Amino acid sequence: MSPEKTSPVVALEDRKREAAKLYSPSAARNREPVRAVLAERLPERARILEIGSGTGEHGEACCAARPDIRWQLTEIDPDSLASCAARAEETDGLLAPLSVDAGAPDWARGIDPVDALVSLNVIHIAPWRVAEGLAESAASLLRENGFVFLYGPFLDGDATAPSNLEFDASLKSRNPEWGVRPINTVTDLFARHGLTLTERIEMPANNLSLIFRSAA
Ligand SMILES: C[S@@+](CC[C@H](N)C(=O)[O-])C[C@H]1O[C@@H](n2cnc3c(N)ncnc32)[C@H](O)[C@@H]1O
Repeated sequence: MSPEKTSPVVALEDRKREAAKLYSPSAARNREPVRAVLAERLPERARILEIGSGTGEHGEACCAARPDIRWQLTEIDPDSLASCAARAEETDGLLAPLSVDAGAPDWARGIDPVDALVSLNVIHIAPWRVAEGLAESAASLLRENGFVFLYGPFLDGDATAPSNLEFDASLKSRNPEWGVRPINTVTDLFARHGLTLTERIEMPANNLSLIFRSAA
């Protein structure tokens, strides 16, 4: 197998390093818009589970803005896990990362229910099985009134931004299992697991925030 297929997936960007902590240029750009959307939807003392936390900067920014919340970091990549651990040590409310492969069967077993299951810029840069893993586990992980929050680029038929079509082609040329996901395919996947798309929020740089809640 080629190294691209066997190595864990990491971000396609030049992350800066300071001891164990990594700094993501894209997280620096999008953490404020993401924080704003999330913070106003999280209940008091919300518990959040993030899948594919990367450098840990999103959780750090949200915990700084909302000292009442508890944010559980997770990652699959060792360098990212170390970065998340370093941030968790110095940020109130940010919980030391769990090693989680969201594409593995039963990955959520043993994890306590949460108010929000969050995954930012992950499902296009991971096999489709990861999106399926999120959807399969979401219903059992979410507390009453809980929600799934996905952020990133999506394909939207004729309305797809040209930059997202180019990004899709470039992802697929690196790994045929990756790709910008069609919004309808993602919505159908979550619907099969009892979760309805309740909010679609336009974000900077042709990204979207998608919020799914229990259909019940
Ligand atoms: C583009 S980065 C985004 C990181 C972070 N969420 C952010 O927005 O800055 C994608 C992340 O997904 C993680 N990832 C990829 N496959 C995964 C899997 N199967 N389970 C959990 N995380 C995964 C990678 O290690 C990587 O850190």
